[in-house]
Amino acid sequence: MAKIVVVGSINTDLVFTSDIRPKAGETVLGNTYSVIPGGKGANQAVAAAKLGAETYMVGCVGNDSNGDFSLKNLQQMNVNTQGVEVANHVPTGVANIVVAENDNSIIVISGANFEVSKEIVNKHRELIKTAEIVLLQLEIPLDVVEYTLELCKENKVKVILNPAPGMVLSNSMIENATYITPNEHELKIIFGQPIDQVLKNYPNKLIVTIGSKGAKYYDGNEIKIIPSYEVELVDTTGAGDTFCGGLAAALVRGDSLEEAIKFANKAASMTVTKLGAQSGMPSLEELMKEYSSR
Ligand code: ATP
Ligand code: RIB
Repeated sequence: MAKIVVVGSINTDLVFTSDIRPKAGETVLGNTYSVIPGGKGANQAVAAAKLGAETYMVGCVGNDSNGDFSLKNLQQMNVNTQGVEVANHVPTGVANIVVAENDNSIIVISGANFEVSKEIVNKHRELIKTAEIVLLQLEIPLDVVEYTLELCKENKVKVILNPAPGMVLSNSMIENATYITPNEHELKIIFGQPIDQVLKNYPNKLIVTIGSKGAKYYDGNEIKIIPSYEVELVDTTGAGDTFCGGLAAALVRGDSLEEAIKFANKAASMTVTKLGAQSGMPSLEELMKEYSSR
């Protein structure tokens, strides 16, 4: 079976829900607190695995309870963790997530994610070289993302680069990625130009997610909007990650880009109906059941 390898972050998400988002200097009483596995890399791996793809994770956790929690979760979700290293001197990455007023705000403390190095990538290079698709995000050091993109390019491995959190990318990173999947905010940081103008420069490569409206890309002839689905919104955390995991899972089984975007929208729309990044990610069976009649 064609495999997906995710090289990326693993976090433990500390999720607070509240009616009001506190302003600077303000304290508010919230509603709920949950500890949920997260990290953009791990989320994308879990999304792809739940949707039926053979999925491997390359990353790093600390030698602590959050690390054990994250590793066990990945394994339970059928993600192969042979590429996950354990660092002794730094804690597992954590994210403080506030879900309030129909949106989230997130602070990530990278911890062990910043121990992911070129050496670790090299240690797992055979795995990476034999992947059908590698998924990358920007929660590990940027030079490691850049290095992995080069390795994939040399070995003709397709890469989905999810440029999140948003930061400026070098031309070679853009060039070496097969697909790039920013949201509108990240697109502005990277390209600084109106969405349709940028899309026309990257046919069948740049896929911009546009929240409840779905995703946009240029197929070489026209700009296409592939709409998402109407759902009851609870929490959008992990929507972008589910989209990327879904896109990868559909592409490795041979879907066309347009079919893969449709599938990714279906998966991501289901995620936003539950609190937490991974809690609402659908299995393939759940997705088929939900969308068989729509
Ligand atoms: P995140 O909240 O995880 O940071 P993001 O900002 O990276 O998400 P979005 O563009 O907001 O990415 O959403 C990613 C995908 O999730 C969309 O392309 C769409 O498929 C789905 N999605 C997001 N919000 C909704 C919604 N309210 N209803 C249906 N689908 C949604
Ligand atoms: O994309 C959502 C993720 O961003 C969360 O799970 C959190 O860990 C942060 O990395």
